[in-house]
Amino acid sequence: MGKAKIIAVTNQKGGTGKTTTTQNLGDALALKGLRVLLVDMDHQASLSILCGIDQPDQLPDEQTIAAPILNVANHEDPNTRATIRHIHDNVDLLASNVMLSRVEMYLSSVSMGRETILRRVLEPVMDDYDVIIIDCAPNLGNLTANDMVAADGMIVPMCAQYLSVKGLDLLLAQYSDAKLLNPGLEIIGALITMKDPRRTMQGRIVESLQAQREQGLAMFDTIIPRAADTEEASAKAQSIIAFKHDSKVAQAYLRLADEVMPWIMGEDAR
Ligand SMILES: Nc1ncnc2c1ncn2[C@@H]1O[C@H](COP(=O)(O)OP(=O)(O)O)[C@@H](O)[C@H]1O
Ligand SMILES: [Mg+2]
Repeated sequence: MGKAKIIAVTNQKGGTGKTTTTQNLGDALALKGLRVLLVDMDHQASLSILCGIDQPDQLPDEQTIAAPILNVANHEDPNTRATIRHIHDNVDLLASNVMLSRVEMYLSSVSMGRETILRRVLEPVMDDYDVIIIDCAPNLGNLTANDMVAADGMIVPMCAQYLSVKGLDLLLAQYSDAKLLNPGLEIIGALITMKDPRRTMQGRIVESLQAQREQGLAMFDTIIPRAADTEEASAKAQSIIAFKHDSKVAQAYLRLADEVMPWIMGEDAR
């Protein structure tokens, strides 16, 4: 394979399962033999921490994604490969830290092409991977615009407790804007996360799901259940797949990978 497909895991709401989904979908696809690059585009660096970097803010700038972004903004060679670190079998990481928030402010002053910078950062390593998964920040700012312009497809995790059609309107508006610069961008699907196994999905949730389908939003069949072992895994800086492979959450992410695989291979019939 090679020439990676790029997936942005995005939702401007915090706490919907973006970072958990990025890490576990990455591990699940790596287990299926794909070469995976995870990209942390949140200055809070949760993904970097989950990948075993204890204190991301102590990383030198040149070991975080801030460096290649600034290189591109300054018309230099991005030097992306030097920034990437190996995590485990088939999984690499472009880490982030608090510096990324300063980079985001700086991008506002770049007059041309500021939304295509991440695309240009990733271009030199596209042949090294089969899939690149971007963990987006919980907002719709400059960096998230970059994520959507770089990506081929979006996965939108939505927490079962607060499926919100209002927030979705804003996300879909940014999606339309991103398509001006990136006409091929697709929504691979919305993903329901953290569903309480003891509660059936009723009332408002079913209604808002209906509203999403009416807006033409594809939904994954896989639903990620809520389970306490997810927090235990993250306390150990592991994916749930590595921590407890037979847990319900791990198994759900493996099924999600099966659903995403045809899209990655370009065989998606949807
Ligand atoms: N399936 C799950 N079951 C239980 N807790 C979860 C699950 N998915 C995520 N969490 C927890 O919910 C919190 C928010 O998840 P996270 O992936 O960080 O969301 P986001 O990146 O969208 O802010 C984290 O503490 C995470 O460990
Ligand atoms: Mg996150």
